[in-house]
Parts: sequence; C-alpha cells; structure tokens
Amino acid sequence: MISQRVRTIQPSATLSLNSRLQDLIRNGREILNLSVGEPDFPTPEFIRERAKEAIDDGWTRYTAASGHIEARQAICRHIARTRQVEVDPSQVVISSGAKQSLSQCLLSLVDPADEVLLGAPHWVSYPELVRLADGVPVTVETRSQTGHRLTPELLEPHLTPRTAGLILNEPGNPTGTVSSAEEIAALVEFARDNDLWIISDEIYESLIHDGELHSPYSVDPQRVSLISGLSKSFSMTGWRIGWTVCNPPQAAAMGRLQSQNSANPCSVSQACIATALEHHDHPELLSMYETFRRRRDLMVEGLSGIPGINFSIPGGAFYIFVDLSERLGPAGVAPDADAFALRLLEEKNVAVVAGSAFGCEGAIRISFARPEAELLVAIERIRDLLGVS
Ligand SMILES: Cc1ncc(COP(=O)(O)O)c(C=O)c1O
Repeated sequence: MISQRVRTIQPSATLSLNSRLQDLIRNGREILNLSVGEPDFPTPEFIRERAKEAIDDGWTRYTAASGHIEARQAICRHIARTRQVEVDPSQVVISSGAKQSLSQCLLSLVDPADEVLLGAPHWVSYPELVRLADGVPVTVETRSQTGHRLTPELLEPHLTPRTAGLILNEPGNPTGTVSSAEEIAALVEFARDNDLWIISDEIYESLIHDGELHSPYSVDPQRVSLISGLSKSFSMTGWRIGWTVCNPPQAAAMGRLQSQNSANPCSVSQACIATALEHHDHPELLSMYETFRRRRDLMVEGLSGIPGINFSIPGGAFYIFVDLSERLGPAGVAPDADAFALRLLEEKNVAVVAGSAFGCEGAIRISFARPEAELLVAIERIRDLLGVS
C-alpha cells in the first residue's frame, strides 16, 4: 500500500531519539539531554514583539509562494552584507525551514541516478533527502585529525560520470567544521573543473566561534545554492523559516515546485525575517553567541586528556563529535558507539546521539545547547563511564 519511494525512508534519527527521551522524562527520569539540535534560548524578545504586531497588521494571509517580497528583499540585503554578493529577490525562495529548502533544492537539481557527494560524518537528513529525489548519496569519509574538512583530494576518488553535485555544510552538524577561505575556494574550483553544482547548507551561519564564515556562494554564485534560515542563528526553530539563494532559473523552478507542494511558509514568521536580519547584532543575540563560544571551550577542556578519545575542536555550531573507537570493542567500555550511548543513557542519565546516525561508526555527537552546569555534570559522567577519575 505504501509507495516504493516512501517505504524505505528512515525516520530522522535525532527526532526519533528526542521523542523517546521525552517519554523517559515524562516517566520521571532526570536526564541530561545533550542530544538536542536547537538553541536552549527563547526567541529574542524584539522578534516575538514583531510577530505580535504582525498579526494585528494583517500578515495573516497567503503571501507569494516563494515568500513575501519584503522578506525576500531583507534576505538580499543580508546576502550583500554577509556574502558580498548583490542578489535580486527573484533569486530567493523562502520555505518552511532549511530542511524544506534542502529538499526542494535537491528535487530541482537531481535527476534519477545522479550521484551526490557529501562528507561523512554528515547531517542525518542528507542521504534520505537525496534518495527522495531519486539520487544516489555518495559519502566521503573525513577525519577528526584534519578537522573533518572535505578536500578535492578526498573527493576525487569518488567521482564518476554520474556525479552531479556536492553538498557542503559549514559550520557543520555534527562536527562544527569551519574551513578557511582557501579551502572553500579549492572546493569550488574542484566543482567547476568537474562541472558539479554545490548546495551549501549554512544554517549555523552566525554561530562561529573562531574566525569567520567563508561561503562558497561568495566565490561562485552561479554554481552554488546557498541554504540558510532563522532556526539556529536566531533561536527560531519552531517558526519554520529557511531560504535558498541561487541562480534565477533554479529559483524560478523551486518557486514552481513550492507553489504546488506547500505554497508560502507561515506569513507571521515571514514578517519577522527583516526584523531579525536587520538586528543581527542585537545584544540578546551577541550574548547567545558568546555563551555558545564559552560552552565550546568548556567542552573542549572537559574532554581533553581522556585517554583513547579524539575530536576536532568545533569552529562553529553547538556540537562536538567525539571518536571513541579506541575505547570500544570486545575489551572496551562498550561493543560499539550505539551501545556506549545506551549505557550512558541507562547508567548515567546522559543522552547523546551515536555517530551511526551521521554515517560514522565509533563516535558520539554531544550537543552543548544546554546550560554550563549541566554540561559540567555530563562531562563528569562521561569521564566516569570511560573510567577516568
Ligand atoms: C545541518 C542542518 N541543516 C538543516 C537543518 C534544518 O533546519 P530547519 O530547522 O530550519 O529546517 C538542521 C537542523 O538540525 C541542520 O542541523
């Protein structure tokens, strides 16, 4: 009864885990939840206030399917400021979250059996979204020793005549990877040389702990589809605002697709796009970014020096991806990382996500979107399970 296309789709591992955790918590277990994928801050008050006004101002109807013109103009100003590229509103499609932007971008670019390169560890949804578009995800392993950076040398052996495109994600989930300008330029050159499109998922764009974001969109706006949104940088995950900025024919195609499968994203949320982007340096936001930087330092310090574990220092986002493989196996603390995550949950009441969800065995993703006091206790419990006093 269920279609071939949907029958094989896996549920989002992180969302399923979260609903299981909520059950445990409802049953009275006190769990330190470091599996979370969203900021633990309320949406800033100035944005909430704008939403209340917008309802009274009549932002309550259908807008253009690709998004209200004022919201798309605000995104154009944001792109000019942050990526140094002048774009026209016709190049912007606003969707119900970056996940929908990614899905529609892939549906617009991928033909059946096209191969799409992506680095592993990767965000949970990429392979399934590529398959939903009838494409073939091709994962390219990266290493913690080199900061999980993708390079042309790593990608080259995976090229075939069917390779159509490449998904980049910086700052990365689950690794926090942020590459240098030269490294990004080399990846764009690789794509040019091999006639590949690039989808660049920059949903964590304001959460940069060291240096700055280097977007491939700034290097080659014709070839690159830039995906971002309000979810992470403005603590607005539930408001469902994502966007794609790309070349005009592609944006038109995505607009047609969206007009048929969902139409415009929530009008009230759209009314807040200009307010949010224009106040990107509001003290409430800067304080949130600074808190994440401090927590990153705390995690790095707390996990450093544990024998047999390896991680690269996250340059952005709010995750740290810890390779435990030296501590796993028959004589280790658990047979594999899934079993380790389960022990951590059952015995220490700490929830993390096992690396298998991100296409990488032997590792766990720890989120630091929780208060410092909780992080400190969780680090103690992880050290405890690993037998470090
Ligand atoms: C790398 C990455 N891309 C996209 C998304 C989806 O963002 P949104 O909530 O705006 O759909 C997430 C959310 O976890 C993410 O981590």
